[in-house]
Amino acid sequence: MEQTPKAGIQKDAPFGTLPDGKTADLYTLRNASGMEVKITNYGGTIVSWTAPDKDGKYEDIVLGCDSLGGYLKGVPYFGALIGRYGNRIGKGKFTLDGKTYTLATNNGPNALHGGKVGFDKVLWDATPVEGEEPSLKLTYVSKDGEEGYPGTLTTEVTYQLKNDNSLQISYKATTDKPTVVNLTNHTYFNLTGGVKRDILDHEVTLYADKLVPVDKGLIPTGELKPVAGTPFDFNTSTKIGARINDSSDVQIKYGLGYDHCWVLKESKDSLKHVATVYEPTSGRVLDTYTTEPAVQFYTGNFLDGTITGKNGIVYKHRYGFCLETEHYPDAPNKPSFPSTVLRPGETYATTTVYKFSTKK
Ligand code: GLA
Repeated sequence: MEQTPKAGIQKDAPFGTLPDGKTADLYTLRNASGMEVKITNYGGTIVSWTAPDKDGKYEDIVLGCDSLGGYLKGVPYFGALIGRYGNRIGKGKFTLDGKTYTLATNNGPNALHGGKVGFDKVLWDATPVEGEEPSLKLTYVSKDGEEGYPGTLTTEVTYQLKNDNSLQISYKATTDKPTVVNLTNHTYFNLTGGVKRDILDHEVTLYADKLVPVDKGLIPTGELKPVAGTPFDFNTSTKIGARINDSSDVQIKYGLGYDHCWVLKESKDSLKHVATVYEPTSGRVLDTYTTEPAVQFYTGNFLDGTITGKNGIVYKHRYGFCLETEHYPDAPNKPSFPSTVLRPGETYATTTVYKFSTKK
C-alpha cells in the first residue's frame, strides 16, 4: 500500500548555482492532507504547489520553472516575493520628510516591484521550522540605498502550510531610517491543474467596490472609482474572460485586460476576504484573505508564449492570474492613499492567506 509521506518540511537537492557561485536551496513543505509547496530561497519563490481537485487528485496549480536556470533567464516574477515596493512608483521618485529619493527605474520611466534587482532576485536566508504545520522563515537585509530606497530594511517572511489547505504568508520589516515598504507575493495561479489552458473560464468574486484607476503608464491618477456598472465589478462571481477584452472601458485598454488595484471592502476582521476563484472543470476553489487594504489582480496579459515553464509547458497569453495583496501603487506620491511609510522603531507586519477547497 502507498504510504502517505508525513507532514513536515524537508530540504531537497540544491535548486541551482547563482552566477556568484552561491547555491539556491529548495524546500518542500507538506501538510497532513498531502498538499505540497516547494519554495526556493532565491527570491523566496514558490516553485510548485499542489492542491486536490473535486476527486481528490493533487496537481500543480502555479506557474514556475523546473530549475534555478529558468528563473535566471528572466521570468515575470513567477511565485516570487516582491519588495521593497510591490507595484509602481511613478517616475521612480518620491519625497519623504522633505528629501527626494531617486529609485532604479525598470518599467519605462517608473519603478516596478522593487527595481532592477528586487527582492525576487536576491538570495534569502532560510530557516525551516518543523511541525505538523511546517514553516519556512526567510530573512533578507536590504542595504541603505539599495535600488535607491533609504534605510537598512530588515525583512522577514514566513510561509506556513496549514492542515486546512491554506498557505499563510507573514511579512515583517524594520528600518533604521524613514522609508517606504509594500511587500507582496507574485504567484501566478492556474487552477485547472498542471496548467492545462488559459484562466479565462475561472470564475472570480472580488470583494471590492472601488478601483484605483491608472493612466497609460499604469500609474494611479489619484482618485478612486466605483466598480459598479464596469467590467471591474466582480462582486458577483463572473468568468475572468467575460469582459476582459471590453476595450470600450479605458481602464481595460490601459491594462491590456485586468492589471489593476482594487480597494477591498472594510471588514471588522483583521483578515479581509479578498477573492474567491472557482475553476469549474477541476472544482478547485481558491479563497484569499489579507490584512492589506488592496489587491492587484493581474491576468497574465504580458504572457505571450515565449516562456516554457515546468514540465515543458508553454505559458501563453493569460495562462495565469495573480492576487498581489498590497497597499496602493504610487502611494509614496499620493498623500490621500493609505501610507506606506515605515519609521525606525515601527514594525511593518502584514499577513495574507491563500486557502484551497473544492466544490462539485
Ligand atoms: C504586475 C504588474 C504588471 C506586470 C506584472 C509582471 O502585476 O502590475 O503590469 O508588470 O507584474 O509582468
